[in-house]
Amino acid sequence: MALILFIFVSSSLLLSGCRAQSCNTETFSENRNYALCSPLSELGATLHWTYHAANGTADVAYRVQQDANGWAAWAINPTATGMIGANALLAFHDASTSAVRVITTVINDTSYNPTIRDENLTFPVHSRAAEYAAGAYTIYATVGLPNNSTTQSTVWQAGDGFQNGLPYGHPQTIQHTTSFSSLNFLSGQAAAEGAGGAAASRLHRKNIHGVLNAVSWGLLFPLGVIIARYMRVFKSLDPAWFYLHIACQCSGYILGVAGWGLGLKLGSESKGIVYHRHRDIGITLFCLATLQVFALLLRPNKDHKYRIVWNIYHWTIGYMVIILSVVNIFKGFNILNPANKWKHAYIAVLVTLACIAAVLEIFTWAVVLNRKRKTRSDDKSHNSDTNGSNGYGVRPHQGV
Ligand SMILES: *[C@@H]1O[C@H](CO)[C@@H](O)[C@H](O)[C@H]1NC(C)=O
Ligand SMILES: *[C@@H]1O[C@H](CO)[C@@H](O)[C@H](O)[C@H]1NC(C)=O
Ligand SMILES: *[C@@H]1O[C@H](CO)[C@@H](O)[C@H](O)[C@H]1NC(C)=O
Ligand SMILES: *[C@@H]1O[C@H](CO)[C@@H](O)[C@H](O)[C@H]1NC(C)=O
Ligand SMILES: *[C@@H]1O[C@H](CO)[C@@H](O)[C@H](O)[C@H]1NC(C)=O
Repeated sequence: MALILFIFVSSSLLLSGCRAQSCNTETFSENRNYALCSPLSELGATLHWTYHAANGTADVAYRVQQDANGWAAWAINPTATGMIGANALLAFHDASTSAVRVITTVINDTSYNPTIRDENLTFPVHSRAAEYAAGAYTIYATVGLPNNSTTQSTVWQAGDGFQNGLPYGHPQTIQHTTSFSSLNFLSGQAAAEGAGGAAASRLHRKNIHGVLNAVSWGLLFPLGVIIARYMRVFKSLDPAWFYLHIACQCSGYILGVAGWGLGLKLGSESKGIVYHRHRDIGITLFCLATLQVFALLLRPNKDHKYRIVWNIYHWTIGYMVIILSVVNIFKGFNILNPANKWKHAYIAVLVTLACIAAVLEIFTWAVVLNRKRKTRSDDKSHNSDTNGSNGYGVRPHQGV
C-alpha cells in the first residue's frame, strides 16, 4: 500500500509540476515589449500583452510550440466561451510562398465546420503580424477590446490540419478542447488567475482520474489475479494468497471507484465533446467489478457442487475486467494525451506483469504436472482406491 501511495502522490506532483512554466523570460523580435504575461493553461502556450486604457486597445503576443507545417491561433470570443463565436488570428506557412502568413477569421458556424477565410473581425484589429522561430509560432496584434471591456473570453489553438491551403481542424485531445479561458487584461495578477484557472484545475483533476484508474484498474486488479492464480499452487501459501488477493482487489476497487466517480463528474462537466466509448466502458467496468465484490459474499463452500460454476463465473468476469480495463486506460491515454513517458511507463508495467505471469504459468504447469505424476505413481504403489485423486484437484485453475 505504501508503494502504491508513493506512486500515486509522486505522479500527481510530477504532473502538476510539469504545468508550472514561466513566460517572463521570453523575448520578441523588433524589440517588442509587453507589460504583462501569462502562461496559458493548455498547449504550453503563452500570452504577453500591454493594455492601453486610453483607447481600450491591447497589444498582444501569443506564442505556441508547433511544427512548421502546422498552424497556430489566438482568439477573443465576444459572445460566448470556447470556439463557436471566436474571432481568431491564425498564423501558418503559406503553401505557395512558404512565408508565414497571418489571417483573421470569425468562427461563426455552430456545427464546428467553420469557413476559414481572411475577413474583418467583429472588433477592430489595428495591426497583425506573425513569425516562426525555434519551433514556435508567435502572433502579434493590436486589437480594440470588444465592448471596451478589460475581461475577455479568449481561445487559443495549435493544429496541423489544412483545407484549401488554410488552417482547418485540430486534434481533439483535452489540451486542444479546453484551451480557452477568461483573461483580465488590466492586472497581471488577476490575469494569472483568470487565465485558465478553471481549465487548469480541470486538467489537474483529469490527471488524478488517470493516475487513480491506471493504478487501480490497470495495476492492482491484474496483480490480484496473478496472486490468485499462481500463489495458490504452493500449499504453504494457503490461505495467505487469498488474503493478498482480497487486499489487492479491495484496495483496487476502492481507488477504482474513486477514480471512476471523478471520471463521471468530469464527463458530466465537459461541454461539447463527450467521450462516449470511454465512459461506457468505464460504467461497464464498475458494474462488473461491483458484481465481483458481491460474488465474494455469495461464494459457495469449497466442496459445494456449485462451486465450480461460481469459479468459472468469477474467473470469466475477472478476466473481462482486466481486458476492458487495459483497453479503457489506453482510450484514456488518447483523450488526456499526457507526455509519452506516462504511456511508456504504463506499457512497461503491463509488459512486466505479462512476463511475470508467463514465467509463473510455465512454472505452475511444471509443478502441477509433476505433482500429478507423483500422485499417480503413489496411487499405483499403494493400490489405493481413491477415485477422487485424478489430478483434477491440483489443476492450476482449480479453486480453493
Ligand atoms: C492607443 O493608445 C496608445 C497609448 O496609450 C497608443 O500608443 C496607441 O497608438 C493607441 N492605439 C490606437 C489604435 O489608437
Ligand atoms: C474604453 O474605456 C476607457 C476607460 O475604461 C476609456 O478611457 C476609453 O475611452 C474607452 N474607449 C472606447 C473606445 O470606448
Ligand atoms: C459568418 O460570417 C460570415 C462573414 O462574416 C457571414 O457571411 C455569415 O453570414 C456568418 N454566418 C453566420 C451564421 O452568422
Ligand atoms: C474590413 O474593414 C475595412 C475597414 O474597416 C474595410 O475597408 C474593408 O472593406 C473590410 N473588408 C471586408 C472584407 O469587409
Ligand atoms: C457590454 O458591456 C455591458 C456592461 O458591462 C454589458 O451589459 C453588455 O452585455 C456588453 N455587451 C456585449 C455585447 O458583451
